Amino acid sequence: MKNKIQDIEVKNKRVLLRADLNVPMHDGVILDDSKIVASLKTIEYLIHEGAKIIILSHFGKIKTEEDKKTNSLAPVANYLQKLLNKKVIFCKQTRNLLLEPKTLALEPGEVLILENTRFEDLPNHLESDNNPQLAEYWASLGDIYCLDAFGSSHRAHASTYGVANYIPSCIGFLVQKEMEMLDSHILNAKKPFTIVMGGAKVEDKVELIESLLPKCDHLILAGGIANSCLYTLGFNVGHSIRTTDSTIIEKIKTILIENKEKIILPIDVVVGREYNPTYIEHLTVDKVTDDDIIYDIGIKTIEKCKDILNSSETIFVNGTVGKYEEARYATGTREMLNAIIESPGIKIVGGGDGVSAVKHFNMQDRFDFLSTGGGATLEYIIKSGLPAIDNIEQKKG
Ligand code: 3PG
Repeated sequence: MKNKIQDIEVKNKRVLLRADLNVPMHDGVILDDSKIVASLKTIEYLIHEGAKIIILSHFGKIKTEEDKKTNSLAPVANYLQKLLNKKVIFCKQTRNLLLEPKTLALEPGEVLILENTRFEDLPNHLESDNNPQLAEYWASLGDIYCLDAFGSSHRAHASTYGVANYIPSCIGFLVQKEMEMLDSHILNAKKPFTIVMGGAKVEDKVELIESLLPKCDHLILAGGIANSCLYTLGFNVGHSIRTTDSTIIEKIKTILIENKEKIILPIDVVVGREYNPTYIEHLTVDKVTDDDIIYDIGIKTIEKCKDILNSSETIFVNGTVGKYEEARYATGTREMLNAIIESPGIKIVGGGDGVSAVKHFNMQDRFDFLSTGGGATLEYIIKSGLPAIDNIEQKKG
């Protein structure tokens, strides 16, 4: 059992809060505020309890000086200020001589947010390489470290992992909720347990499938991973996204042979063609030709899945079954999500794309839990833990 924020006296203490405020943004406009909203519970609790709050978060990747211009946390600080209806002090640096006195001068309930922790990645990857001096410096700004950045907990970085080595540490409400939901409903899912997996990525899905297959009763596949399976079985998938890695293909072969009963592949698909943007055809999988690109699953496939989904006690969605961002390829994703929300079982979405699709179709209220993690959620499921969470102190006694 990890130390939890609610079990620690935080009044008048400087709490260094690692949040994941890495939200999608375009031209300074936040496109999806879910992660900021999900972080509020811990921030509001700390304000209410009279802690002095110092927030750390990364934002995007910082590889060049140019990246710094578009990846400042300033718009996020502004947004947070509006949500909290309270002043949020933004510090334009990640380090400076005046910062420590500034944190000491914070009044109970005040919130200070530092610039993007990954600004420290230039030039020497100090944040991403978990530089001990940097972690010790950040730790010197707080009395307690609270990890609430579930979506970044698969990264053993200075701000997510290193800091906990220097001051007492605990987990916030967001991390607690993610662990509780994933532990009880995915790692120990009520059966029948059905997984619907899609998306463009293939390689990292294979590892996820290997760890989930023993736990689930049905695995419905679509997207790049389904194309790779169909290809392995000898179907023509034309120019569709699929793996070309022979080791992965061998793994897929074994998975398919050993789990014939559990795996459900598309029986019909919607295809397009690269050189003809208006071409669209609905085909059974055996009719796909060299020129076709599979962009969506067909309606017969969804019909086939409905009974399974209806009788499932738990459904976990990872990725989308089609390229829903384009209206003409959105039917499969929309109808599959509709079939899922009709099911009486527990419904959980993990991974960024799946969550975006659920929001796109405005179905967020019909799911039991939308995980804030992308890679972190998948790694948590595969390894039953994450480096940054594992590094938080265990509750004593
Ligand atoms: C995410 O958006 O998945 C998290 O914030 C982690 O971001 P990263 O992949 O850049 O580490």
